[in-house]
Formats: sequence, C-alpha cells, structure tokens
Amino acid sequence: MKNIILFASGAGSNVQAILDYFEGKNIAKPVAIVCNKAGAGVLNIAEKHDIPVEMINKERFSSEDFINKINTYNPDLLILAGFLWKIPSALVEKYPGKIINIHPALLPKYGGKGMYGMNVHNTVIEQKEKESGITIHYVNEHYDEGNVIVQAHCTIAEDDTPEMLAQNIHKLEHFYFPRAIEFLLK
Ligand code: GAR
Repeated sequence: MKNIILFASGAGSNVQAILDYFEGKNIAKPVAIVCNKAGAGVLNIAEKHDIPVEMINKERFSSEDFINKINTYNPDLLILAGFLWKIPSALVEKYPGKIINIHPALLPKYGGKGMYGMNVHNTVIEQKEKESGITIHYVNEHYDEGNVIVQAHCTIAEDDTPEMLAQNIHKLEHFYFPRAIEFLLK
C-alpha cells in the first residue's frame, strides 16, 4: 500500500474521484489532505473520510516545519488536485519525481500564473478553440512546466459555454487522474 497526500483547495471533486477509485483496492492510502482555504469543500470530504488535514498559509507552506510534517506521513506521491499555489523549491527538491499536478487545459497552452479553474475555460472559449483537455504532469519550481505524464482531449462545439467545457473537463479529470496515479504507484 502506497501513501498519498492530496493538496486541494477547491470543491474537491477530484479528491472525491481519487478516494472513490482507490476505496478497497489496497493500492493507495490517502494519509493527509493539505489545504490553504478555510471553508473549502474538500474539507468536508476529508472529515467524512477521516483523513487528517494540514491547513497552511503562505508562511507555514514554505517553512521547514511543514516539510518535516509532510515527511512524517512518509508519502510515496504528492498529488495536487485543484491546488493553486506554487510548490516551494525545498519541497520539490525533497520529493523529486514524486509531485504531480492536474491542469484543466492542454499545456503548454493556457497554463501559468492565474490560469486555474474557470479562468482557463473562459479563456479557451474566448479564443474559439476547437478542443481542450487535461494535462497531468510532474511539478517543478515553475507553474505548469514539469514533464507531461498524460493528456486527454475533448472537442468543443461552437455553442459550448465555459460551464459546459468545465463539466466535460471534470469528466476527463475524474476518469484519468485516479488511473494515472495508479499507474505511477505501480
Ligand atoms: C480542476 O479542474 C483542476 O484541474 C483545476 O482546479 C479544478 C479543481 O476542481 N486546477 C487548476 O486549475 C490548477 N492550475 P475540484 O476541486 O472539483 O477537484
């Protein structure tokens, strides 16, 4: 059984999909959820599943204490599932090749600072793209720039709204993210 830590600050639908997928499978144990947003939906999920939560602010996130705390969970994989802060380089250095992120677009397009959640989908629709998708990639010190693990595409119809695109992207994420994690853990 491998230990996974989930970093999330949003509704947590990806966290939920990951928990559902690994339930009863003896592959991955979610040992902690790291969150920087009080009241985030993912906190209810953590409570329901009895998973310890590490709340962070910018100061704690970049502290040595935080890295030491993460080490105590003995994680095999650190998973950013709707997490928006840049990962401090000390953490990246401590866990090389063991931190992954999901991004709701086909990187290198529509990535970088400020490109998250609905911002991404609004921009993709504004630009009249014919397709979008998801990117699961390794994390380095730069936003959305680590090596790509997998991408999945979806087509965009002419009258699709950003909300419709967001829904399609979530479907791709919920399918591919747990499976990519399983692949990496095995
Ligand atoms: C997901 O679509 C994820 O790809 C995105 O935030 C959403 C979180 O949804 N992440 C980023 O934009 C990172 N740059 P969720 O809380 O329902 O899982």
